[in-house]
Amino acid sequence: MDLLQEKLKETTTFIKSQGVDNVEFGLILGSGLGELATEIQDAQIITYDQIPHFPVSTVSGHAGQLVYGTLSGKKVLAMQGRFHYYEGHSMQTVTYPVRVMAALKAHSLIVTNAAGGINTSFEPGDLMLINDHINFMGNNPLFGPNDDELGPRFPDMSEAYHLAYRQKVQAVAEKQGIALREGVYMGFSGPTYETPAEVRFARTAGADAVGMSTVPEVIVARHCGLNVLGVSCITNLAAGMQKTLNHQEVVETTERVKVDFKTLIKETLQTL
Ligand code: HPA
Repeated sequence: MDLLQEKLKETTTFIKSQGVDNVEFGLILGSGLGELATEIQDAQIITYDQIPHFPVSTVSGHAGQLVYGTLSGKKVLAMQGRFHYYEGHSMQTVTYPVRVMAALKAHSLIVTNAAGGINTSFEPGDLMLINDHINFMGNNPLFGPNDDELGPRFPDMSEAYHLAYRQKVQAVAEKQGIALREGVYMGFSGPTYETPAEVRFARTAGADAVGMSTVPEVIVARHCGLNVLGVSCITNLAAGMQKTLNHQEVVETTERVKVDFKTLIKETLQTL
């Protein structure tokens, strides 16, 4: 067994010892979106600092704990707070929790984030279904030797965001009367927000939203064979499209749209 598999064994053994058995869905809750975890029933909470081989997140607005339990009748393991590449973690560290979810037999990952809108028809507060991504982070979590027991050397990313899930979330949005945009998420490393020139470049490249997360986690989820559903909260217009950018606005916008966001995820989960 190689080192990564040994670490995963230690991590999952600990997590199982805390009462986590049958995980169906992994859930990653982005900046300001962690409140969904408070709706998980029979919740088992495990703070990251207790978990062997887990790093600790440093961003304000991120709680830093796993919440396990039932949401919309499904067994979910939610991350309240994620790890970012810009915090200085390696891509392997950033994506380690996704490997843990897969090792705990999750079949799907629901990933959420706060993002800047690039599409000129978007407005702050919009929710965007991610239908594809562009990895512009300058790195890839699968760099290095591949463990064939965990996944293939060259994963197919043709349908990184599961088509059947996208159709279901669109149907739920329509039924619930929630306006749902759809588009391509482009991952930058951060921690600076983009420059206006980078935003123009991203738009020309085909992106609808930009952010500093999600791409590595989705790559590893696909490597492990998880089906992925991704939703962005457009918290602001990207640089050059509004006066200035700040993290406070990101948090305030997620606060404003959290009811729709939670409804969308919960109602969708019911149908998956
Ligand atoms: N850029 C990058 N990441 C973000 C943004 C943005 O404009 N808004 C929220 N996260």
